[in-house]
Amino acid sequence: MVKRSKSSDRWLQRQRKDQFVRKAQDGGQISRAHFKLAQIDQRYKLVKPNRRVLELGAAPGGWTNYLEERLGAGLLIAIDPLPITCGDRTHVIEGYAGESAVDDEIERILAGQKLDLVLSDMAPNISGVRAVDQARAMDLADISLDSCHRWMNQRGAMAIKAFQGEGLDDWVKDLKKIFKQVHMTKPKASRPESREVFVVAIDFLPE
Ligand SMILES: C[S@@+](CC[C@H](N)C(=O)[O-])C[C@H]1O[C@@H](n2cnc3c(N)ncnc32)[C@H](O)[C@@H]1O
Repeated sequence: MVKRSKSSDRWLQRQRKDQFVRKAQDGGQISRAHFKLAQIDQRYKLVKPNRRVLELGAAPGGWTNYLEERLGAGLLIAIDPLPITCGDRTHVIEGYAGESAVDDEIERILAGQKLDLVLSDMAPNISGVRAVDQARAMDLADISLDSCHRWMNQRGAMAIKAFQGEGLDDWVKDLKKIFKQVHMTKPKASRPESREVFVVAIDFLPE
């Protein structure tokens, strides 16, 4: 018999108790993350039919599935090095956001069109060293923002996962210079003990 570690036992117990894990299993959603986007969207009304959306950190596909059900004839580009469960119309790029080969592929798919929405649920590989993990998380936030500068329409929106800690407040302060509205939100589906928050920025008005 395979012996499980204490930490994997704890993870299993937490998964069994978690109402959003159970809800995802009962409702056929791919991941509990689905409910985070659903709750953010309910509040800020970001996902609308025919929008062009870039989704960073899409695997295993909970958000992708939510988006596919709502975008109609819109365009969805979903990026992750890991496999994403999705429909045929979604443009999947297997790789890391920020890599030049991935950027080239985004350019090819957009073919001169602009994005309406940039979403990121990217999370860094956790080293356990808080300062290192926070720096990695802030790098991922920068990659999302860079995508807005490169490919987003004026008045577009962004919603990204971030982690409370060093650098986040200043980063959000700077964001307020280029978006009309900036909000920090923690959906109910985000585990209360996690430092995870979501930054929602609306009305992109770059200089
Ligand atoms: C929390 S999961 C995303 C869950 C997903 N939103 C869902 O609903 O199923 C975080 C993902 O970020 C991805 N990731 C981390 N760094 C990345 C990067 N630079 N580019 C693309 N994906 C990245 C990981 O591979 C992982 O699949």
